[in-house]
Amino acid sequence: MDVQILTQCLELMGERCADPAPLVFQRLFAENPAAEALFVRDTAGLVRGEMMAVTMEALLDCAAGDAYAVNLVEIERVNHEGMGVSPEVFDTFFRVVMAVFQDILGPDWTNEMDGAWRRVLGKFPHALA
Ligand code: HEM
Repeated sequence: MDVQILTQCLELMGERCADPAPLVFQRLFAENPAAEALFVRDTAGLVRGEMMAVTMEALLDCAAGDAYAVNLVEIERVNHEGMGVSPEVFDTFFRVVMAVFQDILGPDWTNEMDGAWRRVLGKFPHALA
């Protein structure tokens, strides 16, 4: 079950990295340098932390059968345009999160995990585009 595999990834991440959010945003800003300016007022990283938490919850919900996640993310995609985040940049976020998990898990990142992440990301219409 994909939800169990994703949960296992989260547990392994928790053992190795107290907070992956800074790594995720570092990678996001490396790919999209203009995006960093959007967070100038987020000095304590609270908005970034909240965004990361919502994203992980959405991934787990989607893996468990999608009670709300695909809808929520489609709505956030439009909302974010109003915050200055283009859909193209927004769409990279799940892929960036997956890449950070892959990096941190290193040799413990299995083909099974890769398959589960790709299946779940594939349910969001733009995440793997
Ligand atoms: C799966 C993708 C994403 C999801 C689910 C998501 C979700 C959210 C949520 C729930 C908030 C509200 C947080 C709060 O203030 O309590 C938020 C805020 C924000 N997001 Fe995202 N986000 C995503 C991707 C992105 C990307 C790629 C960027 C830009 C590079 C971005 C930029 C922002 C900014 C600037 C805010 C703060 C707005 C403010 O000043 O209050 N988001 N996001």
